[in-house]
Formats: sequence, structure tokens, C-alpha cells
Amino acid sequence: MNKTLLRGVRLYGEGDPVDLLISDGVIAEIGTDLADADAEVVDAAGQVALPGFVDLHTHLREPGREDTETIATGSAAAALGGYTAVFAMANTDPVADNAVVIEHVWRRGREVGLVDVHPIGAVTVGLGGEKLAELGTMARSAAGVRVFSDDGHCVADPLIMRRALEYSKALDAVIAQHAEEPRLTVGAQAHEGEQASRLGLAGWPAAAEESIVARDCLLALHVGARLHVCHVSTAGTVEVLRWAKTRGDAIAPQATRAGIVPQAGRPGISAEVTPHHLLLTDERLASYDPVNKVNPPLRTEADAKALREALAEGVIDCVATDHAPHAVQDKDCEWAAARPGMLGLQTALSVVIETMVRPGLLDWRGVARVMSERPAEIAGLSDHGRPLEVGEPATLVLIDPDASWTVRGAALASVAGNTPYEGMTLPGRVMTTVLRGRITAHDGRIRA
Ligand code: DOR
Ligand code: ZN
Repeated sequence: MNKTLLRGVRLYGEGDPVDLLISDGVIAEIGTDLADADAEVVDAAGQVALPGFVDLHTHLREPGREDTETIATGSAAAALGGYTAVFAMANTDPVADNAVVIEHVWRRGREVGLVDVHPIGAVTVGLGGEKLAELGTMARSAAGVRVFSDDGHCVADPLIMRRALEYSKALDAVIAQHAEEPRLTVGAQAHEGEQASRLGLAGWPAAAEESIVARDCLLALHVGARLHVCHVSTAGTVEVLRWAKTRGDAIAPQATRAGIVPQAGRPGISAEVTPHHLLLTDERLASYDPVNKVNPPLRTEADAKALREALAEGVIDCVATDHAPHAVQDKDCEWAAARPGMLGLQTALSVVIETMVRPGLLDWRGVARVMSERPAEIAGLSDHGRPLEVGEPATLVLIDPDASWTVRGAALASVAGNTPYEGMTLPGRVMTTVLRGRITAHDGRIRA
């Protein structure tokens, strides 16, 4: 059966409930009391329909650390979280700094078929920060890479960063920077502030992020290239972005390339924030539980508040999970030895509802903007983040806004279980995820 009838949904959480008939992968009809004898009927009364979410920052760990996540388990977590496309970070083993690894990830993502897996290419060989990777070869590979990042590491050398921006401009791509001046974070374990002093943890100063963001904005403006700032974590970075964006609009939209429709308003300088930086602060570190260790670190409530406001305002463009699965032995250990990172794909929406929707900072249109439309624009995806209209791809998510659920790491689809929300009850639940007309997840279960 290639038809589905979604009954009683509220598009973008607005207006009266409607039925949505999906046929051959597209939205064929929107109306009331629709009927189709051939269609699978999904009773979605009162559920909010949004375009499927796009995550610009996912660590899928394959190849190399399949003991923590695979492309299959990470894709399942994504579909259950309402995602229809994810961008897989390059810090795998081997590193995705060449077309062979890139095409492997891309092919495996297609085989699994639950979300569109777009591999991100490394900026430098082996994430070493010294020699540019062959960006052009990755761009021309079957995966058509258009996002490059050394995430986990900062492209710290300003000349390498400049060259990367120049190449990415020629390739109609974007450089996603993990902004962390490494000389300022040697041995760092926590946000540099009162809490770190109290706990005796070496500090990771806000300036280590802010100085790189300022530098990279200046370089991107100089070169006329597109820069995306990963996981913004400080109020100061928001101020730098606010300044840079007043100048960034001067960058012309990039040239058309085959198969990809250039999107209006494709940004010159863009930025993401993680759900955990919106909700959690360094107050949590008192337990010394490494589940709270993440890079950049959890910061202060003043920072989190600035991030929420910046996301509402559009100074920060979108939410990205930085979904970072880790093995038990790398988390259940002393703080200093633990690896940074936390799961995010299945909890992202609920954390966004808790931090942004409930306090009235975003409505459902706003959620669609920050979790779907804007990330699709930033990455140049033409088939995600589309309006929910007749003729558009049926790539969408249905949400029960009134439900709540209690997070259990062991029950999540990821191989690893390192969620910082263990035992917390969070609002909102993904009920159904649809990718090009096919239901990928429904009522907490994957549809193979
Ligand atoms: O917390 C983090 N974990 N930050 C990063 O930049 C990398 C990531 C990982 O790969 O585990
Ligand atoms: Zn990072």
C-alpha cells in the first residue's frame, strides 16, 4: 500500500484539524473527511504536523565505534525522534576525510533507509588540523558532500580555516566549525566559572569559543563564504553572532548546482544550539556524574537564557543535537577520564518544547523553523523542511503535544545509553515520522 491517510492533524499546530492524504510519497490532498479505500488510516486526532526534522550534527560512530552506535541504530533513534535527515559527523575511525569512507556511510544510510543520512566531510586530513582534506573529491562523490567539519576538534589554524572557506565557497558548501581555541582549553574539564572553582575542575573559558567565532566570522565575511557555528554555548558568542549577522547578509546566495535548488535566504553565517545547552547548566556538575560532561561544557543559567532568547530571535538559526553516544566504560568512570558527549536524537523535541514552547518563546511554526526549515536551508537540502502543502514531499512528523514521557536510557534505540535526562519526565511525544510517504516510526516503534 503506498497511500496513507492521516486523520485530524493540525498543520503547524494552527487552525482546525484536517486530513492529509499521502500518495506516492507526496501530499496529495488536504481537507476534511477525506476517504480512500486503499489508504492505511492513521488516527492522529489533535496531533501537530510539522515538516520532518533535520539534524545538522549527529555522531553515528560507524565506522569504528559500532559498540556505541551504528548507522542503523542511530537512524532508528533519529526516526523515533521525528528526524527525516541527519548529517553524520566525520570524527569516525577511520575519519570521513575521503570519498571512500564518505560513500560507505552514505550507502549504509540508504540501505537502512529510515532517515536520509548525509555524511559530513572532514576539513583536514585525520582531523589533524594541518593539511586540508580533499574537499572537492568528497563533494563530487556519490554522497555530494556540502557540509565539512572537523567537529570534536577546532580548525584552529587561521590560514587553514581561510583556505577551507575559500574551497567551500567554490564547492557551494559550508564549513561547520567546532569553535574552541585549543590553547585556551588545555586540560579543561568544565565551564570556567564559580562552579568549576568550587569543584576543583580545570576551566574551559567562554572566550575560547567566542574568540574563534569572532575570527571565523571575520574570515567568512572576508572570503564571502558560508560559515556555520556548531553548538553555540555562551552569551558572548550570541553577541558576536548578532554583530556578524548584520554584515553577513551581504553574501550573495551561492550559484545553482545540479540537482539542488538554491534556497532563498540561504545564510552566510549561521549557528546552531544543542537542546542540552538550552536546558542544562553547570549546576549539574555537583554530582560529578560524567553523563553531564560535554564539549563545549554546560554553562551558566545566564548563558542558557541568552541561548534561548537568541534562538527565538533567529540570531541562532537552529537546533542541532550533537548526539554523541559513548560506551559505558567511557562514561562510568572518573570525571577527568570520561569522554564528552550525550545522546540527543530522541529527546531533542521534548527539550525544545520544555525550554522554548512552554515558556512562549517559540510557537509550532517556530519549532518547524529551527528544527527543520532552517537546517535544511543551511545544508542546501531541497527536499526537507518543505511547506506542508499539496504537491510537496510527504516528509513530516506528527507530535502529540499533550503527552509526556519519562526518559530511560536503556529504552532508547541507541546502542549507548548516556542520556543526561534519565528519569526526567519531558513534554510532547513523537507519534509518527514519515519520509517521502513512508512511515518510518510510529507510536514509539520503528517500521522497517
Ligand atoms: O561533547 C562532544 N562530543 N563534543 C564534541 O565536539 C564531540 C562529541 C563526540 O564526538 O563525542
Ligand atoms: Zn563539537
